[in-house]
Amino acid sequence: GEPYTEVGELGEGMDGRIVLVRGRAQTIRAVGKKMAFVVVRERGFTVQCVVTEKEGLVSRQMVKFVASLNRESIVDVHGSLTVPSSPIKGASQQVEIQVSKIYCVDKALPTLPINLEDAARSEAEIEKALQAGEQLVRVNQDTRLNFRVLDIRTPANQGIFRIQSQVSNIFRQFLLSGGFIEIHTPKLIAGSSEGGSAVFKLDYKGRPACLAQSPQLHKQMAICGDFGRVFEIGPVFRAEDSYTHRHLCEFTGLDVEMEIKKHYFEVMDIVDRLFVTMFDSLNASCKKELEAVGRQYPFEPLKYLRKTLRLTFQEGVQMLKDAGIEIDPFGDLSTEVERKLGQLVLEKYGTEFYILHRYPLAVRPFYTMPCCDDPAYSNSFDVFIRGEEIISGAQRVHVPELLIKRAEAIGIEVKTIETYVDSFRYGAPPHGGFGVGLERVVMLFCGLNNIRKTSLFPRDPLRISP
Ligand code: 4AD
Repeated sequence: GEPYTEVGELGEGMDGRIVLVRGRAQTIRAVGKKMAFVVVRERGFTVQCVVTEKEGLVSRQMVKFVASLNRESIVDVHGSLTVPSSPIKGASQQVEIQVSKIYCVDKALPTLPINLEDAARSEAEIEKALQAGEQLVRVNQDTRLNFRVLDIRTPANQGIFRIQSQVSNIFRQFLLSGGFIEIHTPKLIAGSSEGGSAVFKLDYKGRPACLAQSPQLHKQMAICGDFGRVFEIGPVFRAEDSYTHRHLCEFTGLDVEMEIKKHYFEVMDIVDRLFVTMFDSLNASCKKELEAVGRQYPFEPLKYLRKTLRLTFQEGVQMLKDAGIEIDPFGDLSTEVERKLGQLVLEKYGTEFYILHRYPLAVRPFYTMPCCDDPAYSNSFDVFIRGEEIISGAQRVHVPELLIKRAEAIGIEVKTIETYVDSFRYGAPPHGGFGVGLERVVMLFCGLNNIRKTSLFPRDPLRISP
């Protein structure tokens, strides 16, 4: 049969060509009984299709049929391309299809739970329309998420998930070319991997078990198994109690673990090169997607340096102190304080992406290596975008006795991690790594205000469907 042409490929150079396209009937407008316009959308590109009785192109019945099509139905359109004399508004492609045949491949319901035009408007456009007395419904987040299949058809959402795909693609390509191998660790595990209460417990054939809070233990065991440098892209489960803009109960973890020859800075070097490469590449290869996101949710491009700024925790505390904010020098940073420090760093160093390292040991997980010169601190780091955490990482304890002591101190039942601890008894190289939250990277790179916008089907304390 005749091949399909993609809507995005249609251009002025194809004037006069006969084409067949498939897409969704985005809008349908009848002009009297003899003519109708259908804007057909495919992968975010749109083309105007003219259905007219004139010149005997189609029958009046056909015009009537087209006028009665439901929005978002899938249609096949056959016709010849023409280039109109004036620019086409309301469609991305600057050509029209003079329709000779049109079929409905699959019909959508006559009324949709979300009006996609409304769902695609920016806050400024909504305000303007409301002031002009236009009837429109502000589509709230719960409605969007309830009807996510429709919601993700908007240009901004199409952009977000294409950017997300590119983030994991760059992560994978960068690491593969740096000698890392991709691994897959179990998600059903015997005990908590991060400690704390945020763990989903389950029954594993009569034995207690849980969903992995991270690949932490098994990625380290892979290093004990001589792979040298590993990474994983996979689901991470956290039984979060808090309902915040940045916590999900399931997210996608980008994890790295590697041997360290001399210093945990080797791990931060990977973070630096990986993320500068990633940001450069997103800015270069996702221009259209970033624009689509920015049109609905305006944001400034991320400011980052060629060589990522590194500050010690103590330096951060001092910067806060100089700005009149006193915090416990051995405590953790609250979300608010992290944001404030982000602002101070931006003012002083001109970057919204930086690494904070040498955290107090007391606020880090049990597997974190203390600093050899001062055990009150640790060989660990967090990484921030626009004042919010996207990564935490560290050198790990590879000495079994110290590991047991640290686990017991925070109330982890050592029995549940016995095989993990034993992995370090057969000769273990010094090693370290980090974990990145994929949804957070996309959220903060695009300056979005809620992590639910960057999760395809988000799971939070109140939502497990769709
Ligand atoms: O800081 P976290 O808990 O660190 C770990 O899981 C370690 N095993 C990492 C390591 O290798 N040392 O999680 C890592 C990242 C966070 O920086 C954040 O980006 C993301 O995962 N994250 C979440 N994202 C969405 N929802 C949540 N509830 C998240 N919790 C952490």
